[in-house]
Amino acid sequence: MAATLTLNQQRLYEQARSLQDNQNVLVVMKNNAYNFGMSLAYEAFYKAGIRSFATTNLDEAIWLRAQHSETVIVLLDPSTEFDLLKKHDITLTIPNMAFYKMYKEQCETIKVHLVFKNLLNRFGFDTAEEMKAVLDEGALTITGIWTHFAFADELEDDRYTIEKENWQYVLSVLSPYLDALTMIHAQNSASFLRDGLFDQHTHIRVGVIAYGTRPYYELPESLARQTIEVSATVKDVVTVPKGESAGYSAAFVAEEDTRLAICDIGYGNGILRTRSKHEVMINDQIYPIAVLMMSHMMVKIDEQVSIGDQVFLYNDTLRLDYFTQKGVGAFSEQMAGLNQNTFAVKTIRLSS
Ligand SMILES: Cc1ncc(COP(=O)(O)O)c(C=O)c1O
Repeated sequence: MAATLTLNQQRLYEQARSLQDNQNVLVVMKNNAYNFGMSLAYEAFYKAGIRSFATTNLDEAIWLRAQHSETVIVLLDPSTEFDLLKKHDITLTIPNMAFYKMYKEQCETIKVHLVFKNLLNRFGFDTAEEMKAVLDEGALTITGIWTHFAFADELEDDRYTIEKENWQYVLSVLSPYLDALTMIHAQNSASFLRDGLFDQHTHIRVGVIAYGTRPYYELPESLARQTIEVSATVKDVVTVPKGESAGYSAAFVAEEDTRLAICDIGYGNGILRTRSKHEVMINDQIYPIAVLMMSHMMVKIDEQVSIGDQVFLYNDTLRLDYFTQKGVGAFSEQMAGLNQNTFAVKTIRLSS
């Protein structure tokens, strides 16, 4: 059997439901729904009651609009495809004053949100006063405002406090307009889990927690159940005598006679090289990875492991957030890497 990626749509639904039941969620669907797959993710989120969707990619935004007409689709990145934005009723983010000045007239027929740059320094208006000037001018249909925190995930770094203060100041300057806005959204998963929904905000705007992963490790595991599983199969078992090597360029050198399981998964499937510094699970036991190659992985095993056994790289014990904590990479890095074309993809569908 090929390496297998299992996508648990039912769990995705349950996770989304637990969020949406308590506050409105603008769910981030960028990068093919964090690589879960747009269709599966959308179906689960919509069934959970979510009606607001965000992405950075216009094609994804158009796809989202094609699913239902009554939802809100927010394009987080700028675009000058004004005809398409209008045709598909996609809410455009105005990224800064320069864009506003250049495209004010083209934006008159679409809905827009204004974004505040804050410490992320990606897109955004530089000041609250600039945003207020745009609102004062009244030329556009502005339905929302937002910002994005660069430090909410960094518990040790108090620049998150500064970002929040900056944003509070923006809200105070824009206070005459807030009641008329249908969406005020600032909080990613970490910010929401640290602070709850901020006052005056209509939505959280989350990715990782909606996809079943804790944004930081100090949170209880029960907050998010992992929605994917990745496994391979032991295709062969070899014994490498003490002093001999295995893998290209002697990637592994045996310090003692060593049994290695040769498994049918590798970085070609999108497993991060950093992941190979850590363990896998075979028959509920933990074993260290010895070498990760493009289409193979060697695992140091004992006598309990045989050809045909299933080897888990990610499951309910080997969680994405556990490996983030170990330094393998952010949830999104681990997920985005997985190349669905190279896996046998199994789906645990929504139960009806
Ligand atoms: C603008 C914006 N909002 C929200 C999110 C969701 O963040 P998280 O996945 O940490 O909840 C992202 C993710 O990168 C983002 O870029």
